[in-house]
Amino acid sequence: MFDHDELAERRRKKLKLIRFDSDGQTLVESEKPRETFEDVGGLEDVKKKIRMNFILPLKQPEIFAAYGKEAGGSLLLYGPPGCGKTFLARAVAGEIDANFLQVELQAILSMYVGQSEHNLHDVFEKARENKPCVIFVDELDALGGSRHLMRQHHDRMLVNQLLLELDGLQARNDQVFVIGATNTPWYLDPALRRPGRFNHLVFVPPPEAAERETILRLKLKGKPTDALDLAKIAAETKFFSGADLEQVVRDAVELAMERTLETGELQPVTQEDLKKALKGRKATTLDWFATAKNYAIFSDVNRDYQVVLDYMKRHGIK
Ligand SMILES: Nc1ncnc2c1ncn2[C@@H]1O[C@H](COP(=O)(O)OP(=O)(O)OP(=O)(O)O)[C@@H](O)[C@H]1O
Ligand SMILES: [Mg+2]
Repeated sequence: MFDHDELAERRRKKLKLIRFDSDGQTLVESEKPRETFEDVGGLEDVKKKIRMNFILPLKQPEIFAAYGKEAGGSLLLYGPPGCGKTFLARAVAGEIDANFLQVELQAILSMYVGQSEHNLHDVFEKARENKPCVIFVDELDALGGSRHLMRQHHDRMLVNQLLLELDGLQARNDQVFVIGATNTPWYLDPALRRPGRFNHLVFVPPPEAAERETILRLKLKGKPTDALDLAKIAAETKFFSGADLEQVVRDAVELAMERTLETGELQPVTQEDLKKALKGRKATTLDWFATAKNYAIFSDVNRDYQVVLDYMKRHGIK
């Protein structure tokens, strides 16, 4: 999509990443993350959706205008844990000619009652001041959380604020785009799922074999290794998430390091290290599918989760 010079040029422009400071109260600017889509293994369908919805409209607004199609809007990424939702959304920042604002709801929620709504509003204000801008609202599951009454009330107010902000964006056509991420879209307040809000669901599935190989290669990049048969490891890690694979590589690297410390000579990561690291590890995504299946079968009025059932069928998950 982009050639390297163009990407380098984008990076030089130092578009902004804005997030809360460690005190959780102040919005600060930091440098944009370095990841781009190239660092994300596979997920071509999802990348394509993001290009269509966020990247092309900013690059070639005239095409979208010609078809009377509105640019941007919002996307909700969902799927099993560790499969790259956060990683991918951050990579959008590296791809796109826009500012990027990341909001961790977990952090916002932990603030004093009343303060979190205020802060959420600040984030959207900041986005409007810095448009075009992508706001990434991570961990939307946080809003479904505790059953504690006080907490529920607190959540409710934050949901209302989020609804206000999303509707405000739509009304003003502000060139502010929103990406949300959650493991549990079925718990999301239905009001958040109405048209113009998070009505566009995008399933982020576990990586396929070829993608697993790519992820393994990406995670081993720059480390001393033997000639490795990563395709073999990929074949043995069906349903492993990106995070699961990252852990396997981390463990294998540790084994090589231990040998290095013992022998005093730099030891490459071997196939045997990877095999050992794999031992006893299981894919962490399968529990998620078991839960998702219930919602997909019993409470999926809009057939939002048909893609999940299709995926399970195609891959023989019961
Ligand atoms: N497709 C991928 N390509 C490269 N790395 C990946 C990919 N998917 C996951 N990873 C690795 O796994 C780690 C965890 O992924 P990430 O945090 O994005 O998952 P997530 O879907 O947001 O999970 P959660 O639902 O738990 O928030 C990332 O830091 C990244 O290193
Ligand atoms: Mg995440």
